[in-house]
Order: sequence, then C-alpha cells, then structure tokens
Amino acid sequence: MITLKEKYREYFKLGTAVSVGTIKSHAELITTHFDSITCTNEMKFSSLCPLENSYRFEHADAIAQFARDNSLALRGHTFTWHNQTPPWVFENTNREGLLARLKNHIEVVAKRYQNDIYCWDVVNEAIADKGQDVMRKSPWTDIIGEDFMDHAFRFAREALPNTDLYYNDYNETHSPKREHIYNTIKGMLDRGVPIDGVGLQCHISIYSPDQDQIRRSFELYAKLGLKLQITEMDVSMFRHEDETRLPAPTPELLELQAKAYGAAFEVFREYKDCVDSVTLWGVADDDTWLDYFPVHNRKNWPLLFDEQHAPKEAFHRIVDF
Ligand code: XIL
Repeated sequence: MITLKEKYREYFKLGTAVSVGTIKSHAELITTHFDSITCTNEMKFSSLCPLENSYRFEHADAIAQFARDNSLALRGHTFTWHNQTPPWVFENTNREGLLARLKNHIEVVAKRYQNDIYCWDVVNEAIADKGQDVMRKSPWTDIIGEDFMDHAFRFAREALPNTDLYYNDYNETHSPKREHIYNTIKGMLDRGVPIDGVGLQCHISIYSPDQDQIRRSFELYAKLGLKLQITEMDVSMFRHEDETRLPAPTPELLELQAKAYGAAFEVFREYKDCVDSVTLWGVADDDTWLDYFPVHNRKNWPLLFDEQHAPKEAFHRIVDF
C-alpha cells in the first residue's frame, strides 16, 4: 500500500497529533504514514508547568525521543493560549509581571527542545470568532493588552533564531474572522514582528466549508508571503452542536467525508509552494478529541484510519489523484 508521506513527498510534510499513549498504541501507523508529529497536549503550558516553578518534562520528552528515534519532524504546540494555561500564570501579577512569566516560559521550553522542534505555535487562537472585536478577550489581553502577541513572538525569536514561528487559529475560512487573522498578521509584519507562518487548524465537517471557501481563504493567506501549515485537520461527521449519536458511520457519511478530504487536499496541493505541512489532529478514529467536544460522548469518526486502524475511503481519496 502506498503511504501518505511517500505520496506527498513532493508536496508537503504529512503530520499527525500524538500523545504519550498513541506513540505506543498507534506507533505503526504513525511511523508508516507520517513524517511530522505534534504533541496533542504534552507541550501546553498546563502540562509542562502546572504550578509555579514546577516544570515536568517527562511526557513531552518521551515524544521528543520518539520523534528522534523515528526521524520525524516535530511541531511545537503551543506557548501562548487562553486554554490549558495554569491559573498561577495569571494570579498576583500585572503587565510587566505577566510578560516576564511569558518570556521565562518561552525561554525554558524553547531551549529544551531547540534541536528537536522545527516550528512553534507561538500564539494559539487569539482572534475572536464573532462580533466587532478582532482580538479575543482573555487574561492575556486583560493583563498585558493586545500587544501580548508581538511580545510573545519577539521572545520566541530571541530564544529561537532559526525555528519557524507560527500564529495558529481555527475557523480560518470563516468571514470576517479570516480577514481579521489576515489583517492582524499583516499588521505584525508591518511592525517588524518576527513571524514565519500561519497555522490553519482545519477542524472542518462534512458540511462545511466547501472547496470554494477553502480556496478563497488560501488565496488571501498566500498574499502574506509567509509559510502556511494545516495544523489540526479533522472532518467531523456532524454539524457542530448536533446531538445525534450513531453506532457506526453510514456508507453515505463515509463517502461525504471522503469528498470533503479530497476537495480540501486538492486545494492544499494547488498551494504546495506555500504549504509546508498538513497535520491531522489524531491518527485513527479510536482516539479523537471529537468524541468529547463539542458534544460529550458523541462518537465521531473524523480521521483517515478507522477504529481498527484500516485506511478509510477518505485515505484512498487523498492518495488517488
Ligand atoms: C485539544 C486536545 O485534542 C484535547 O485532548 C484537549 O482536551 C483540548 O485540546 N485547538 C487546539 C488544540 O489548538 O490544542 C486542541 O486540542 C483542539 C483545538
């Protein structure tokens, strides 16, 4: 059988999100089909430093070791986010104090993995979804202000002169969020803030976005002249808050999913000159965050391999072109 990474060698790196568990349970699929990995949770602030001055690197180290052992590229995810940041970070502090904590965190983690990680999501999901505001309200904006992004990227560049620095977000094909992301990054570039790429999460569903919407978004982001990465792709079988539960995916759903994957990958290939990697948010359907989010215990089947680790129709669709 053809492998994903071989098929896409001329295009971009093919990645998958892994955990300390799946580097064991899904090792064969990971090393056969992918040439890049991302830690699902293990490198987030709350996993690395749940209490002040208490770094614990065991899980993240295990994944870095797995990447080295199998010659896999490793993406860093993520330094600065409104979720999965431990409460102590925002307590008893002010703008200067929080900037100092952020700088210290970036330095410590960046240095530890500087020889393992080729790109970092420096800031994750800082743009608002709806409404008039461009920036999402969070403790970062409340305590530091909207320039927290600029600072995070400058701290990261100081620590990592040769690592690609990314801004990463979801709903990246939705208007006006799409324009807000574009304008924010453009503003950073105009101010001379060091940034190398934009991460497009691509948590989509079989219903939307359509191929046109994806293509229009790439047209826009490509104008930034930066690298683009698809960082967290999965294709849900359900509309966002649909409470339907199914015992198994129907053939019709599997076909719609194959179409959605096929259409998206067609656009990724068209933009291969700026697309640096495409990462799936998980390996196989037996281990996906979409079983719990946004509807708890709604089994979903959003990936390219089924619960038995066999390739699905979506897999065949993206390798047959
Ligand atoms: C998710 C993980 O997959 C879950 O295990 C965790 O409980 C919550 O976070 N956007 C991101 C990722 O940038 O870090 C999120 O990962 C999914 C949405």
